[in-house]
Amino acid sequence: MILVTGGAGFIGTNFILEWVKQHNEAVVNLDKLTYAGNLQNLSEVQSNPRHVFIHGDIGDQELVLRLLQEYQPRAVINFAAESHVDRSIHGPEDFIQTNVVGTFHLLEAVRQHWNVMSDEGKAEFRFLHVSTDEVYGSLGNDDPPFTETTPYAPNSPYSASKAASDHLVRAYHHTYGLPTLTTNCSNNYGPFQFPEKLVPLIIMNAIAGKTLPIYGDGQNIRDWLYVSDHCSAIRAVLAHGNVGEIYNIGGNNEQSNLDVVTAICTMLDQVHPSSPIVPHAELIQYIRDRAGHDRRYAIDASKIQRELGWRPVETFETGIHKTVSWYLANQDWVANIASGEYRHWVKKQYG
Ligand code: NAD
Ligand code: TYD
Repeated sequence: MILVTGGAGFIGTNFILEWVKQHNEAVVNLDKLTYAGNLQNLSEVQSNPRHVFIHGDIGDQELVLRLLQEYQPRAVINFAAESHVDRSIHGPEDFIQTNVVGTFHLLEAVRQHWNVMSDEGKAEFRFLHVSTDEVYGSLGNDDPPFTETTPYAPNSPYSASKAASDHLVRAYHHTYGLPTLTTNCSNNYGPFQFPEKLVPLIIMNAIAGKTLPIYGDGQNIRDWLYVSDHCSAIRAVLAHGNVGEIYNIGGNNEQSNLDVVTAICTMLDQVHPSSPIVPHAELIQYIRDRAGHDRRYAIDASKIQRELGWRPVETFETGIHKTVSWYLANQDWVANIASGEYRHWVKKQYG
């Protein structure tokens, strides 16, 4: 079996749902259930014996060690993190606690367990750390995309904490020989994404006739990847990646924020003409920019394409269509989130 951390969040949920469909191997899912974790996401596998949910913190070293000893997973895939840049600006401490200190304790538990495994078990074991392209900092419009050797230059408390965790993972491989793999992926979008992030926020607000907030001039660029393509890349790295190495994952799909928002509005005009305000783009409002807002991210994904044969399946058009359709078809999920802690966040961030 495998141990996944943070499996009740956006990407972890998608990864687990796909894994259970595609593999006979069971998944143990360790999640703290912060505001971003939602067991409703996993209702499809709730009574599936191949999914075991454990409520707990990656920073609880004793718990993690106990889980490793009990379940003897062949791999640990670490999704657990505080993941939202704007929240890291309001309050960086949780980011340091989970992303840095938590990853450290997780690594310590894994090292302790791995040390006493058989030689064969040691050789087969993998610790896969899921990270972000934001550790590389911000690109100018004419700069080449990030490669695996681009120097780290994180600019937000979020990306700095992820960079620190990447460095710890690297050090555990080089110092202790732990068989690690690190992936640095670009911006994801798709089902189950918490609506603090751009794509689901815009879809939800547009359907509700609320304003669509765009930071600054809307010309910041991200490289968007549909979440199931990220999940297939992680499976490829887990299966065939070279131990100790880093793999950049991206969709070759750079878009300005304004273009992303406009694409969502245009799609909603067609598939949801009953919204309170149509055309939806009338709801766009430019607001104060994010502090330290990175201008552009772009990923050179040629290493994973060349070495592991991975390629994204979805285009931006097909991916956005699937995403918009999912949010429209899952209004209960949306309503449930909109009534919880999310309201406080919206008030704090958008006034
Ligand atoms: P998310 O915020 O939706 O989910 C994070 C999950 O981790 C939640 O279920 C939460 O309850 C859990 N968690 C938080 N702290 C924990 C702790 N201390 N112990 C156990 N569980 C804890 O995040 P996401 O968007 O699914 O991102 C998953 C991973 O992928 C993160 O490491 C993130 O940095 C990385 N990543 C995300 C993106 C993206 O666009 N969303 C892109 C590249 C990389
Ligand atoms: P986000 O989804 O928070 O991801 P990240 O900051 O990790 O890239 O934001 C994506 C882009 O959208 C980023 O440039 C900030 C911008 N943005 C807005 O313009 N308005 C918003 O309300 C949000 C949440 C983000």
